[in-house]
Amino acid sequence: MENFEFYVGTKILFGKGQIENLPGKLGQYGKRVLLAYGGGSIKKTGLYDKIKNLLSDFEVYDFAGIEPNPKIQSIYAGKDMCLKHNIDIILAVGGGSVIDCAKGIAAAARYDGDAREFLGKDKITGSIPLAVILTLSGSSSEFDFGGVISVPETNEKLVFEHESLYPKFSILDPEYTFTVPKLLTAAGSADAIIHVLDQYFTDVYSMMTDRISEGIMQTVIRYAPTAVNNPDDYEARAEIMWASALTNTHICSIGNINYAWSIHSIEHSLTAHYDSLTHGVGCAIITPHWMRYVLSDKTVDRFAQYGIRVWEIDKNLDKYTIANQAIDKTEAFFKSLGIPMKLSEYNITSDKFETIAEDVLNTRDDYLGKLDRDGWVPLGVKDVIKILNMCL
Ligand code: NZQ
Ligand code: ZN
Repeated sequence: MENFEFYVGTKILFGKGQIENLPGKLGQYGKRVLLAYGGGSIKKTGLYDKIKNLLSDFEVYDFAGIEPNPKIQSIYAGKDMCLKHNIDIILAVGGGSVIDCAKGIAAAARYDGDAREFLGKDKITGSIPLAVILTLSGSSSEFDFGGVISVPETNEKLVFEHESLYPKFSILDPEYTFTVPKLLTAAGSADAIIHVLDQYFTDVYSMMTDRISEGIMQTVIRYAPTAVNNPDDYEARAEIMWASALTNTHICSIGNINYAWSIHSIEHSLTAHYDSLTHGVGCAIITPHWMRYVLSDKTVDRFAQYGIRVWEIDKNLDKYTIANQAIDKTEAFFKSLGIPMKLSEYNITSDKFETIAEDVLNTRDDYLGKLDRDGWVPLGVKDVIKILNMCL
C-alpha cells in the first residue's frame, strides 16, 4: 500500500431531529451568521422557518439565490456581506452548489485579493468557519474541503481546496431529501457512484480501499431506484446520504495512485459551456463512453473486477465479456433511474467540443497538481473530442 495522509475535519450529525443541535453547535463560533441558500426549496419545505426559529437568538443575514453550478459573482456578493456584517460563521443550507459557493465565500472573506485568483490554484490560506445543513445527496461537499465554481466570462469551471474549508459540522437528516425531485435524486446518486469510479480506475490500489469503494457503489445501486420511485423512503435516503457523503473524503483513493478524475474533468469543462446541464447527469452520460474508450488489454482486468464485485457478473466468463457487460450495466442503470443518456437531449452539439477538450487538458490543474498528470489512461485533446462525440 502506498503511503498516505488521511484527515477529515468535519463532524457529522446524522439522522432525524439532529437540527435541534444547531444553536448549540453554531453558537461555539459566534452569533453573526450568514445563512446561505439557493433558489427557495428550503422555504417550500419549511426548513427555512425551522432554522430561523432555532436561531432566534442569533443575528442571521440571508444570502439567498445561489444558483446551480454557482458563479464567481455570487462569491463576490457573499464576501461583501461577510465583511459588512462581520460574519462569524456561514451556514450553508442546500446541495453541492450552495455548499461550494459558501466555501468560496468563506475563503474569499479571508483572502486579500480577487477570489478568481485562488480558483484552480493553491493560494487559499484560511477561511471563516462554515457549517452545513444538507438537503440533496451526491456532491459530498458536506464532508470535503473543496468546491467548484464557474467563471462565465471565460467559460471555466474550476476547483479550489483548503483544509480550513472542511465544514465545522454538517447536519445530515435524510428527511430533508424527501422533496428532491426524481431526476435530481438520480443525478445525485450517479454523481456519488462516479466519484468512486473516478478514483477506482487506477493501476495501483489497495484491497481495503477497493472494498470500501465497492461497498459504497453497491449501496447506491441498491437504494437509488427506491429513492427515485418512493421519495419518502427513509432507509433509502439515509443509505444514499451516508454513502455519497464519504465519496470525496479521499477514503476511496487511499493507497491508490494515478487515478485521474477523468470523467469529472470532462464534465466540469462541459458544464462551463453548458450551464443548464446538471453535474450528475453530465457525469452519467460521459461515464459509459469513457469506459468503452479506455477499455484495452491494459485496463480490462480492472473493469472485470468492477463487473464481478459491483455488478455480480459471473466470474467464469471471459474477462472482456465481463468488462463489456459491466459497462452496459452501468449505462442501463443510469438510464433506469430516468437520466437522459445523450448530450443531444440537452441540445448540445459538437460545435464546441474542440474548445471543451482543450479546456479539459488545461484545467487538469484544477486538481492543484496533486494528481499524476497522465492518470490511468492518459487522454489528449483528440481523445476527449472522440469521447464527447460518443455522448451525443
Ligand atoms: O436552489 P434550490 O431552490 O434549493 O433548489 C436546488 C437546486 O435547484 C434543488 N434542491 C436541493 N435540495 C432540495 C432541492 N429541491 C427540492 N428539495 C430539496 N431538498 O436541487 C437543485 C440542484 O442543487 P445543486 O446544489 O446544484 O445539486 P448538487 O448537490 O448535485 O450540486 C452540484 C454542484 O456541486 C458540484 C458540481 O460541480 C455542481 O456545481 N460538485 C461539488 C463537489 C465538491 N464540492 O466536492 C464535487 C462534485 O463532483 C461536484 O463537482
Ligand atoms: Zn461529482
